[in-house]
Amino acid sequence: MFAVYAESFSSDDPLGGLVVGERPDPEVLEGWATVTVKAASLNHHDLWSLRGVGLREESLPMILGCDAAGLDEDGNEVVVHAVIGDPAWGGDETYDPKRSLLSEKHQGTFAEKVVVPRRNLVPKPGSLSFEEAACLPTAWLTAYRMLFTQGRLTPGETVLVQGAGGGVATALIVLGRAAGLRVLATSRDEAKRARAVELGAHEAYESGARLPVKVDAVMETVGRATWSHSIRSLRPGGRIVISGTTSGPQLDDAELTRIFFLQLAVIGSTMGTRHELDGLVRFLDATGTRPLVDRTLPMEQARDGFAAMAEGDVFGKIVFTR
Ligand SMILES: NC(=O)c1ccc[n+]([C@@H]2O[C@H](COP(=O)([O-])OP(=O)(O)OC[C@H]3O[C@@H](n4cnc5c(N)ncnc54)[C@H](OP(=O)(O)O)[C@@H]3O)[C@@H](O)[C@H]2O)c1
Repeated sequence: MFAVYAESFSSDDPLGGLVVGERPDPEVLEGWATVTVKAASLNHHDLWSLRGVGLREESLPMILGCDAAGLDEDGNEVVVHAVIGDPAWGGDETYDPKRSLLSEKHQGTFAEKVVVPRRNLVPKPGSLSFEEAACLPTAWLTAYRMLFTQGRLTPGETVLVQGAGGGVATALIVLGRAAGLRVLATSRDEAKRARAVELGAHEAYESGARLPVKVDAVMETVGRATWSHSIRSLRPGGRIVISGTTSGPQLDDAELTRIFFLQLAVIGSTMGTRHELDGLVRFLDATGTRPLVDRTLPMEQARDGFAAMAEGDVFGKIVFTR
């Protein structure tokens, strides 16, 4: 079948190991379902896989892609949940130590077909296009869990989103605004601050700027560069939810004194559950909110999408269609 896959790794030239070609159909295990892919979206994770991060040499060749929407064997429109847990686990699959993300252990979504446990299929409402639905399972699901499960944010509260240009950050802004939050955002770049406001942020500030109010919660994906500002922006009893460290994980000052004295909560967040993906899909269906798509390309032109992401020339999701 047609597939876009990693044949080898290179940290300097990740696109060197990318092949747009043919792979055998994936094996259908007991209790798993085959989805005919209609749209799939690109994540930084796919570039990291080509650099050999999160993927082992013995797993090559590996079809890339975590996110997809398509048709199940009965023709039902579905969104594919990307977290593959151990069937014996039962609880919140993001706590399963044996979980993996599609394209780490099991073949990914940039192909004619993808095979996943049947429970990983979430119904796609007709109001969402395949392209829109394919944006949701990774960055948007991460943002949903950060805001509503780990951040426990409720309408009327104020949230600060650091690094407004990022994929998770843009999803945080759009979802936060649609959920009735007051959304403040930061970015180093003036044009990105303007885009953040267009997307729904009430106000956007330069990274590190003193805010006019203390916030109920901060959503962190930047790490080292913004951590101190995040802690200093919180009200007493506020919470910081962190799901990434783009600028690095090491801190000069972890602001421990403020954390205990102001009784702040630091909460980690990773991906999301099938139940949360279903909630996200219903949330978009009910509110009319839609993911931001940077561009749509036929899957045969996947290399151009990877190149754009490698150059950082993206605002929103890159979607591949079939
Ligand atoms: N835990 C999970 O489940 C999960 C899921 C998805 C992603 N992630 C992680 O989340 C992080 C964000 O990923 P992403 O793809 O959304 O975005 P990204 O492209 O990695 O960048 C996020 C933002 O960080 C800001 N930034 C980078 N370096 C900075 C610096 N030195 N100073 C200030 N700001 C800086 C930039 O904002 P401005 O340019 O606007 O200032 C950038 O737009 C990554 O670390 C990723 O691995 C985690």
